Amino acid sequence: MYGAATSAHQVEGNNVHSDWWAWEQHAPNFPKSGQAADHWNRYKEDFALAKSLGHTAHRISIEWSRIEPSPGKWNRQAMNHYRDVLQELRRLGLATFVTLHHFTNPQWLVEQGAWENPRTPELFDRYVRYVAQHLAGLVDVWITINEPMVYATQSYWQAMWPPGKHSFSSMMRVVRYMARAHRIAYRTLQNVTPGIPVGFAKHLVAYVPEHIGQLDDRLAARLEDWWFNHRFFSLTRGTYDFIGVNYYFTRKLRVHVFPPMFRKLPWSGKTTDQGWPIAPHGLTHVLLELKRYNKPIYVTENGLADAVDSRRADYLRDHLRAVEKAQAQGVDVRGYLHWSLLDNFEWADGFEARFGLIEVNYKTMERNIRPSAYVYKAIIEQARK
Ligand code: BGC
Repeated sequence: MYGAATSAHQVEGNNVHSDWWAWEQHAPNFPKSGQAADHWNRYKEDFALAKSLGHTAHRISIEWSRIEPSPGKWNRQAMNHYRDVLQELRRLGLATFVTLHHFTNPQWLVEQGAWENPRTPELFDRYVRYVAQHLAGLVDVWITINEPMVYATQSYWQAMWPPGKHSFSSMMRVVRYMARAHRIAYRTLQNVTPGIPVGFAKHLVAYVPEHIGQLDDRLAARLEDWWFNHRFFSLTRGTYDFIGVNYYFTRKLRVHVFPPMFRKLPWSGKTTDQGWPIAPHGLTHVLLELKRYNKPIYVTENGLADAVDSRRADYLRDHLRAVEKAQAQGVDVRGYLHWSLLDNFEWADGFEARFGLIEVNYKTMERNIRPSAYVYKAIIEQARK
């Protein structure tokens, strides 16, 4: 399967009941998602483009705050909208990946303590059940939670995202509750839509020691790897049918004795518009590391900000080769979804970072296919021969 991924808040526009929307209005100088890419109204056009570009699968997310704008009150129209969206993908013959939580929450949940509230996993489950009942038959792959570790660190430790907290204990609690939410949702989805694989999308970083011969650098890489990459797997053991891999970069680590800490070193190779290292071999590395879990894998995100599209074609080729290298060593990778189909609202970075295979003109909402999207199309055609 080859395709692309998006998430609701980043492309739909006007998610007025979410915590992100509230945060955007109140945080000074914060980018505002506004209309985003107006995908809520233009999804048919966008999917037709994806189809014309040879895609065979597509990943969307459902916006909880649209489905349940106030506690226990369901918005039937919003639910029907997502049914239409998935039916359109079905009609075009694209496999559907559906994410149930992609960083945003209903604002009312925040008023109840959001992911620090021990009741939140059950509240999430109530929403998951409702959605699953209404989307049964239209979903090929369920993704409960997108990047739980990223969410917990950005929102509860780095204070970059709502609710803007800087508390180690909060972050740890959120990781635990998200794992619990996943485990409960896994059972619900198994019951309501039997036979449909359920997993989560995990952001994985390839950590490498600056000096391979140096024990402390190696330890730093091991520690980060244990915490950020693998902790969530141990908390959810036995409750995922596949692994969703979101891979963006590699980090070199060095340990400092005075003051004691470990540093993420600057990258000397090629980078994206956001300065993220471009390191395709890191994708092979993380995929090989996942062999220990013995599950099928989908690359559920991989991509870069590249407004002028000068690096995306090579990026795609090199990362797909990196996937093949892992496959050749026995890793069961079943699909690749590029981030993203469209330029979109890149959270705290606003609209500057351009991740789309398709460029969006935010004034006119016009779509323009970037040249690299055709390179991807040729790769897909070749692979399907
Ligand atoms: C997230 C996306 C985001 C992308 C690029 C991933 O961590 O799931 O929402 O746009 O990275 O930053």
